[in-house]
Amino acid sequence: MKIVTFDFEEHGDERGILISLEENHNIPFNIRRCYFMYNTQPGVSRGFHAHKTLRQVLICVKGSCRVLLDDGEEKQLVTLDRPNKGLYIASDTWRVMQDFSEDAVLMVLADQLYDESDYIRDYDAFLRHIGKKPERDA
Ligand code: TYD
Repeated sequence: MKIVTFDFEEHGDERGILISLEENHNIPFNIRRCYFMYNTQPGVSRGFHAHKTLRQVLICVKGSCRVLLDDGEEKQLVTLDRPNKGLYIASDTWRVMQDFSEDAVLMVLADQLYDESDYIRDYDAFLRHIGKKPERDA
């Protein structure tokens, strides 16, 4: 699986650092939604779903977390531990967000509004959706 990450340009001076995110520029889609997670409790993992069409960029703007990506063929764990790093997640990718530091703020940019019908929340249904046989059906 090809992992796509972005190193956002930091505009730094003696005052500190500023990062700008622009649709179809350093974010590869129209940004229609932004949401973020914080105060994630110790040991909690989130996600456990794929999207049929949604594309996202995840940025851990404070603290750190790890994101497990699974395209049905292989799994990869990506660490997000700096605010200038973005992780692109294409549609048809199962994801789990885990190992949140206590101070983590995980921000997500998405190319569509929230739509529950775009979610695949069952792993076997995800495998079937991408044309793979769930193991227990084999
Ligand atoms: P949920 O899908 O459980 O989050 P995660 O994928 O991180 O486990 O979402 C938590 C709640 O927030 C759920 O009630 C749906 C709601 N929600 C919105 O209203 N808008 C959104 O953009 C998102 C992502 C979630």
